[in-house]
Amino acid sequence: MRAKITIVGAGNVGATAAFIAASRNVGDIVLVDIVPGLAEGKALDMAQSAGVYPFVGRIRGTTDWDAAAGSDIVIITSGLPRKPGMSRDDLLFKNAEIVRSVTQQIVRTSPNAFIIVVCNPLDAMVYAAAAVSRFEHRRVMGMAGVLDSARFAAFIAEQLNVSVSQVSGILLGGHGDDMVPLPRYTTVGGVPLTQLMDASTIQKLVERTRNGGIEIVNLLGTSAYYAPAAGAVRMAEAILRDEKALLCCCAYCEKEYGVGGAFVGVPAVLGAGGVEKVMEFDLTEEEQKAFDASVGRVKALVEKLKSVL
Ligand code: NAI
Ligand code: 2OP
Repeated sequence: MRAKITIVGAGNVGATAAFIAASRNVGDIVLVDIVPGLAEGKALDMAQSAGVYPFVGRIRGTTDWDAAAGSDIVIITSGLPRKPGMSRDDLLFKNAEIVRSVTQQIVRTSPNAFIIVVCNPLDAMVYAAAAVSRFEHRRVMGMAGVLDSARFAAFIAEQLNVSVSQVSGILLGGHGDDMVPLPRYTTVGGVPLTQLMDASTIQKLVERTRNGGIEIVNLLGTSAYYAPAAGAVRMAEAILRDEKALLCCCAYCEKEYGVGGAFVGVPAVLGAGGVEKVMEFDLTEEEQKAFDASVGRVKALVEKLKSVL
């Protein structure tokens, strides 16, 4: 039987994710949006594209949550994107309200699903989905690290003029300007980046990665969607195909890295059990300090949410 993936939000990220997932034969797709006609129209267009480049799964768009019943995975992209001059945190309360109502529908229609949250501010929205659903922590996660590490990898590949497929980027922390890319653990063809580039070039690429989201917001007037959509589908595939893939994502950490109970970006193994393991690496004092600061900021945002959820 084919897997069933529901994607909530038929906007830039959601519709792109639906098209990537369909094209990669991930399963049957239901695209849900509150705007009448939007998801229906986009899904119809995508379904017709299979007459050109065929894919196996069915894709339908709807405003009716009952169509999502029994989903294996639900990807939440429904949320406001930021505009120039806005930070991801400015979206906190509006998007939390959307995540709350969407999560209630997930619990009603797909109580066994895995939830992959995409909307911002990412780490706080993952907390919201987990708090409202009360699903086991391993079933609730967020997509940001796949995107941020892909950005880091793309900048490194461009700088070294090597194929991006040879670059494996690792980073920690919340999906914000204080994320912590880890050059020591980032490799090119298995060789640590620190052996291949001088420290000041690495630092420039780290900064560009931290500002990767705003670079695109300033160009487009809205946030990125091709790479974010690919990141969400990549996580869904890893779970549905039980890949045991090591991907940077927002996952619940208790003892790991001394986090003490929060959803935050870490390298994790994704497979049929969802987040099966958080991988821990030794950190230098400086790396740990930067990670702690990022975790502190995520926890502060979550505290603000606790009064409204
Ligand atoms: P968008 O505005 O293009 O699409 C959002 C869609 O959600 C709209 O079609 C809207 O009608 C729908 N929606 C709103 N409330 C809904 C509800 N209750 N039920 C169903 N649908 C609902 O926005 P875009 O560009 O797709 O971004 C979506 C979110 O993802 C934003 O919060 C953005 O900040 C975030 N994002 C996160 C990234 C990450 O790395 N985690 C990367 C890129 C975007
Ligand atoms: C990004 O990093 C907006 O969070 C989104 O592109």
